[in-house]
Amino acid sequence: MSTPTRACADTTQRRRSRALLLALLLVIPGGVGAATPVAPTVDLSGLPALGNEWREENPYRGNAHAIAVGRALYAQVCARCHGAESLEPGPAANLRLVGMYCQRLKDPQLAARCTRDADHYFLTTVLEGKIRLGVEHMPPWAGVLSQEAIWALRSFVEAQRSVKR
Ligand code: HEC
Repeated sequence: MSTPTRACADTTQRRRSRALLLALLLVIPGGVGAATPVAPTVDLSGLPALGNEWREENPYRGNAHAIAVGRALYAQVCARCHGAESLEPGPAANLRLVGMYCQRLKDPQLAARCTRDADHYFLTTVLEGKIRLGVEHMPPWAGVLSQEAIWALRSFVEAQRSVKR
């Protein structure tokens, strides 16, 4: 019976899949070793200071200055993976969409809770990065970006929802 041949074929197959997986991980931007996050050089001094306690909700929503600062930050540190201006498709998720569905909720209290939840998800994702099964899809930004910077980024991507293209 053909068991030995099959076993051999299986091994070759497995070796091939492993090589393919490795090649994919090396090629996909944001794959293994998504690179050490580099601190942006954007002046945050005009943003209202938030202190040491982390907010659960975006305190800058709709603030024009925060949106402008967020735009500059985004271009420096997020655009290469998430797409220019959060409008162009990038290799990673479109950040304009995070929590966008909350707008569709008719109950205002529920909509507010939904937005708070999305804000919290945004904040913790940025701080912790995206690391699953030992693969770093996105580096953690804790210690690199302040909460002022993260909420400015959140304000910017949200504001980009209304951009028609
Ligand atoms: C090296 C590439 C890379 C960089 C730089 C990067 N990200 Fe990401 N990010 C990713 C990838 C890839 C994912 C999707 C991970 C997954 O598979 O779940 C992601 C996911 C996210 C998510 C969750 C999106 C969702 O729909 O669930 C948020 C929020 C996020 N990134 C914010 C940011 C912000 C803000 C910046 C800039 C400070 C940033 N990222 C920089 C690669 C990157």
